[in-house]
Amino acid sequence: MSASGQPYRVAVLVSGSGSNLQALLDAQRAGDLDRAEIVLAVSDRADAYGLQRALQHRVAAAFVPLHHPRDPVARAEWERRLADVTAAFTPDLIVLAGFMRVLSPVFLDRFPNRVINQHPALLPDDSSDTFVTSRGIVIPALRGAHVVADALRLGLPITGCTIHRVTPAVDDGPVLARSEVPIFPGDTEETLHERIKQIERRLIVEVVVHLARLSA
Ligand code: GRF
Repeated sequence: MSASGQPYRVAVLVSGSGSNLQALLDAQRAGDLDRAEIVLAVSDRADAYGLQRALQHRVAAAFVPLHHPRDPVARAEWERRLADVTAAFTPDLIVLAGFMRVLSPVFLDRFPNRVINQHPALLPDDSSDTFVTSRGIVIPALRGAHVVADALRLGLPITGCTIHRVTPAVDDGPVLARSEVPIFPGDTEETLHERIKQIERRLIVEVVVHLARLSA
């Protein structure tokens, strides 16, 4: 807890397993989250296991269904509901941790500069289409929902993960942290993604603690 005594309130948006949310919950339980406090998990899917993880830690969990994802009017209305539910918990930070929907300014404008995303590939500091690794290898900056499979399909020697602030451009925005992960011969999408996630779980805790300290 900071001198101000105010917790740094964190909402986490998940669509799936939520192992990164679990890392944050575990860090909180262990007293390792500094003044940050996970106050809410929200999902677009009722069966997202991340919601169960939150409830098991006595953290509020909400399901905000999106019924007609291709209908722009329904989609904007859903983003407004998602923002209303999230705003009710007055978060200082919103973490997209495996949240598989793109958010537009309908949501983002309600939380300026407060939304961060985890991405399981290396993204550059600018919006370019390439990334230069620490060893000077130039690889494509992979964006979208299938980047772990893309890294394998392209035969890249290295990939990684990035945490960045969210802007309306998909998988773009100022980078807060990143880490390189080697790709091994024989890697499958599952083995590679799990190795990336092991790093992501550490990194997200570090970033949340860092941002909480900065805001103190
Ligand atoms: C992570 O790899 C994250 O980068 C991506 O989705 C995955 C979420 O994993 N956006 P989990 O649901 O936290 O296990």
